Amino acid sequence: MRTGVWLVGARGSVATTGIVGGLALRAGLTGPTGCVTELPDLRGPALPTFADLVFGGHDVATTPLTKRAEALAAAGVLPGRLATALAADLAAVEDDLRPAPTGGSQAERAATITADLAAFRERHGLERVVVVNVSATEPAPATHPGHADPDALRAALAGPDEVLPPSSLYAYAAVEAGCPYVDFTPSTGLRLPALAALAAQRGLPYAGHDGKTGETLVKSVLAPMFAMRHLAVRSWSGVNLLGGGDGATLAEPGANAAKVDSKQRVLGETLGYVPQGGTRIDYVEDLGDFKTAWDLITFAGFLGTGMRMEFTWHGCDSALAAPLVLDLARLTAAAHAGGRAGPLPELAFFFKDPIDSPTHSLSTQWQRLVDFTRELHAGGAG
Ligand SMILES: NC(=O)c1ccc[n+]([C@@H]2O[C@H](COP(=O)([O-])OP(=O)(O)OC[C@H]3O[C@@H](n4cnc5c(N)ncnc54)[C@H](O)[C@@H]3O)[C@@H](O)[C@H]2O)c1
Repeated sequence: MRTGVWLVGARGSVATTGIVGGLALRAGLTGPTGCVTELPDLRGPALPTFADLVFGGHDVATTPLTKRAEALAAAGVLPGRLATALAADLAAVEDDLRPAPTGGSQAERAATITADLAAFRERHGLERVVVVNVSATEPAPATHPGHADPDALRAALAGPDEVLPPSSLYAYAAVEAGCPYVDFTPSTGLRLPALAALAAQRGLPYAGHDGKTGETLVKSVLAPMFAMRHLAVRSWSGVNLLGGGDGATLAEPGANAAKVDSKQRVLGETLGYVPQGGTRIDYVEDLGDFKTAWDLITFAGFLGTGMRMEFTWHGCDSALAAPLVLDLARLTAAAHAGGRAGPLPELAFFFKDPIDSPTHSLSTQWQRLVDFTRELHAGGAG
């Protein structure tokens, strides 16, 4: 099942690590640690293999992919030997990267993106192309009447307004090109009524939002524990320190607010109340792609006795995120092949702010994912 993986933000850290990892898996130069679709509970015939994946994408930046891979190797994100051994494969992927379109109306830019996707699918004889947004986080956009339904959207896009934020313009173009869509970021993406209606009309599945790779992953394990033991969480405060391109983007207040909002949702929805405290994200350039999160939780037990716990997470963000991008591309491709359309809440396991998921508990989400992949492998899930 030859499957295209079209990365929006293809020269970023997550995308480059995903491309290097996908190529290394195909060449047998590394193992699948971190790829949950290779666990015995999920593995199976419905998923495209790593060798089936073909990479392409858009970016506003122009730094060659080999240079990005070398920079990530120098920073300790990926092994230098892979950047060297895969130089020719990375150069081949470079031929499938396109500049983010600029100028003209948004309708014209969307048409360029759609044409790039269709040409990629044809050039490589792909059965389908999954578009994955791993671009820089955007602030929440202002509302626009064009967001309401497909006809209003088409009319508005042809005019002079910037109707859609970039993530949603890519989502629109993906749907117009008949591509399933995954949003690994907290940006708006496909989360607008007009775009959801278009995806339903075209029979396309989509998944999001915002990959769950660090502090929120731990929260989605711990918060259900406090709830199940009927302990009262009084406060939960977290400080995240990170560098890299994502850290620099999140230093901007609008993008920071979008991310913090996405990170806090798990607590309120799991505990049924919102404890005191909040999540902070600070940019520390020197940390690069390595993130530190400190969380302090105060809670009360029987007779009101106060207690506390703390944890520290030191994660390499791109190494945690990249295998999930490969997993999501494989699973979403299989869902499309199986005839699924609309949101895929069964993929909530991967996201901080999952679409249409009633639970943030990692173990419940895991079971749902296992059941879903079992159905896909059995030829069901449609
Ligand atoms: N790493 C993680 O653990 C993790 C977890 C959850 C979500 N995310 C999200 O994934 C995204 C990528 O993270 P990253 O560390 O790779 O960031 P990054 O800054 O390294 O990469 C982002 C890329 O997007 C490109 N870009 C910006 N605007 C664009 C546009 N309009 N069109 C096309 N490309 C554009 C940039 O040039 C850059 O190459 C971020 O939104 C981040 O919040 C990452």
